Amino acid sequence: MGTDRVLIFDTTLRDGEQSPGCSMTVDEKMTLARKLETLGVDVLEAGFPVASQGDFEAVQRIAREIRGPRIAALARCKREDIALAWDALREARHPRIHIFLATSDIHLAFKLKITRADALQHAAECVAYAKSLCDDVEFSPEDATRSDVEFLCRVLEVAVEAGATTLNIPDTVGYTTPTEYGELIRTIRQRVRGIEKATISVHCHNDLGLAVANSLAGVEAGARQIECTINGIGERAGNAALEEVVMAMHVRADRLPFTTGIQKQEIYSVSQALSEITGSQVQPNKAIVGRNAFAHEAGIHQHGVLSNPLCYEIMTPESVGVSANHLVLGKHSGRHALHMRFHELGYELTKQDLQGVYERFIQLADRKKRIYDQDLISLLANRPPQDHSQGQSVAVMQ
Ligand code: KIV
Ligand code: ZN
Repeated sequence: MGTDRVLIFDTTLRDGEQSPGCSMTVDEKMTLARKLETLGVDVLEAGFPVASQGDFEAVQRIAREIRGPRIAALARCKREDIALAWDALREARHPRIHIFLATSDIHLAFKLKITRADALQHAAECVAYAKSLCDDVEFSPEDATRSDVEFLCRVLEVAVEAGATTLNIPDTVGYTTPTEYGELIRTIRQRVRGIEKATISVHCHNDLGLAVANSLAGVEAGARQIECTINGIGERAGNAALEEVVMAMHVRADRLPFTTGIQKQEIYSVSQALSEITGSQVQPNKAIVGRNAFAHEAGIHQHGVLSNPLCYEIMTPESVGVSANHLVLGKHSGRHALHMRFHELGYELTKQDLQGVYERFIQLADRKKRIYDQDLISLLANRPPQDHSQGQSVAVMQ
C-alpha cells in the first residue's frame, strides 16, 4: 500500500447509531453492513458490545458474516468491556478492538474522577490486555483536541508501547479548526516515541460544521485513516460524512493526492438505504447525496448543464450512483429545460407549442412551488388549436 492510501473506517453502526432517532435492529444493521462491505470500507465499526444485548448480537453477527473489511468493536478502558468486545468479535476474519479513554482534564476530573497518572496506567494496562486477545488494537484518547498536548503525547506513547497499532485522535466535541487540528497531528508525529509503528487516525465531530475540513487537514498532516459515517450521522451534529471526505479527495486529487478503496458509484445507494432504515431523511441540500445535490433550477444553469454538465457540475451524478441529473423545473427554468423534459416524457413540442406552453408554465410556477410531470402534461391541454395537416401538433411518442 502506497503512503497516499487513506483507510476508511466507517462508524455508521456505532457512532452513527448514537445519533437521536437512528437506532437500528440487528437485522437492519446486517443489511447496512452488507452494503458497507460492497461500498469497500476498510474498517467497519459494528457496535459497542457492552452498551446492550442488541449491540453485542449485532457485532457478533457482523463478525461472523462480513468477511471483507476489518470488523471493529468499541470498548471503554475496562477489562470487562474489552473481554466482552472480544467475545463478540472472536469469529471475525480480521477483528479489531477499539479502546477509548478520555484524556482532557475536564473529562478526567468530572466524568472519570481519576488523575492523569491513573489514566496513563489504565491506558497501558488495557491496551496490553486487549493485545493479549487480538493483534489489532486501536486506541482513542477521547476529547483529544481539548487535552493538554504534552499529556496527550505521553498517553499515546504508552498506548503504542503496549501494542496499539492505530492511534485515533478524536475531536469529540467538534471544537477544533482545520489549522489547529493539522498542527496537532504534526505535533503527535514529532513528539510521540514509536509513532512510526502506528497508523494515525482522525475522528471529527461536526458541532461547528468543520468535521470534513478537519478530517482532511488531519490527512494532509499525515493521518492515514478517517473515521466517518454515511450521511454524516452521529452524536449531536454528527460525524464527518464518508461521502464528502471520499469525494473531496477524488474530485480535488490535485490538492488532496490520496486514494481510498471506496466504490464511489455505490455511495448513493448506501445513503438511501440508511435513510430508509432509520427514517431519517437527508437534508435536500446535503453535499453529494442530498436530493438537490445535482439539481439545477435556474434557467442559465439548466441550459449550461444540458450543453455540458461540467459548466455547473464538478462530478457527474453517475460517479456516485445517482442515475441522472435532476433538472428541477420551477419559475427560474428556461425553455430549453422545459423542452427537454417534455421530450423525456414522450412529447415533441414545436417551437410554437413551446412558446405557449412556456408562458403558461411560468404563470403556474409563480403560484406553485413544485411542478410535477402531471402539471406539465396538463399544460398541453390548454394549448391553442393546432393545424395537424402541417405537422405542427404535439406528437405523443410513446
Ligand atoms: O467522539 C469520540 O470521542 C468517540 C470515541 C469513542 C472514539 O466516538
Ligand atoms: Zn465520536
